[in-house]
Amino acid sequence: MTSQRIPLEPGTATIAMGAQFGDEGKGKFVDYLAEHATLVCRVQGGNNAGHTICVGDKKFVTHLLPSGILHPSCQVALGAGVVIDPFVLMQEFKQLKDAGIELNSERIHIDPRAHVILPAHRAMDRAKETTLATSGAAIGTTGRGIGPAHASRAYREGVRICDLINPKGLERWLDKHPHLREGLDSATLTQLLEIGESLRPYLKDVVAITTNALDKGAKLLIEGAQGTLLDLLYGSYPYVTSSQIISGACAGGIGIPPWKIKNVIGISKAYATRVGNGPFPGEIFGQLEHALRDKGKEYGATTGRPRRVGWIDLKALRYVGRMNGFTGIALTKADVLSGMDRVGMVVDYRDKRTGEYMQGWPMSAEAWESIEPVVEFVDCWKDVLQGKSFSSEFSAFLEKVEKHVGIPICYISNGPERTQGVWR
Ligand code: IMP
Repeated sequence: MTSQRIPLEPGTATIAMGAQFGDEGKGKFVDYLAEHATLVCRVQGGNNAGHTICVGDKKFVTHLLPSGILHPSCQVALGAGVVIDPFVLMQEFKQLKDAGIELNSERIHIDPRAHVILPAHRAMDRAKETTLATSGAAIGTTGRGIGPAHASRAYREGVRICDLINPKGLERWLDKHPHLREGLDSATLTQLLEIGESLRPYLKDVVAITTNALDKGAKLLIEGAQGTLLDLLYGSYPYVTSSQIISGACAGGIGIPPWKIKNVIGISKAYATRVGNGPFPGEIFGQLEHALRDKGKEYGATTGRPRRVGWIDLKALRYVGRMNGFTGIALTKADVLSGMDRVGMVVDYRDKRTGEYMQGWPMSAEAWESIEPVVEFVDCWKDVLQGKSFSSEFSAFLEKVEKHVGIPICYISNGPERTQGVWR
């Protein structure tokens, strides 16, 4: 049962991505796969992500650099699809350097076309959320400037990483787009340009690096950020992030041919969490909510916000699995549920008024509001593993998940450590 079937193949890309609302435990899983990868890439999102990895008694949280950074033999890349807050990237470099991790331009590649999150974007994000809160319509963003940076990109007014090594060009650009100067006093601008200069060795054509590496048989790993239910187009709009998350968009974020993608692993907790506002059909309230949040340490890695908690949603997982073409599911945090009386799972949605089961998938805010979950319960397990095998209760849970979702569960993580995982 512990034999490893690592889904990384030479000359192809594998995606490890969130199948829920983010925070599925991707960091640990990607870190685990990264040991076997040549190059780990981020392709979307920015420092709204927070990936936690525990190595021995050390805990690392990365927001921008892919989790693979902790493996000395692994290269990492930030594709053009990522939005980068240069100040945060610098803090991350420092944190890792202080921990003795070797960072050099042989290992780290940053696409100069990636857009920059400026202080103005952070200010806009927070101001918009404050305004929306007055009418009860706040998204509950991470406040990191993610939406406004993507908006600048779409408006074709954005500053890109390549602009940070061209001071005169950047000045001219900011003169044409003065609202981007907010929060950029001369000291901050100087600092930004210094950061740009220090990043110079890492700025490379990531398209050339990844495509050449694939030609030479590299094993590429794409590290998804957030989760499919937060996808800009297919998530529970408007309660979504500002980038596309689905596997179909991943090739674009790094500039590789989509047909190079061989495996897509969806990562899901054995229960569910959501940070920020928006529909969450399996949400649990009351005593159990608090107990599960505390046991699972469900507080945001980026903002520290308490996460909403709920039962695993198998209807959503099936939908998301089909859209992304999951070749397998990695199930995380099964150990957190151990010892509970029973475990719930959302198997369908029904109309609150008529009780009729929902056909298809809710696509509008009204549709989300009109549904309630159909929850089925199974006996909980005392322990995930009994000796070297899964306990009978946990096996029954796995079977039920697979039956509803129609995708094999290939990996089970039962603890925060690198070693606490089982291939199946
Ligand atoms: P934004 O990405 O900061 O604009 O936030 C939009 C929504 O996505 C909010 O509900 C956030 O809580 C959520 N979100 C963004 N990034 C993550 C993540 O990495 N994990 C979980 N939720 C996230």
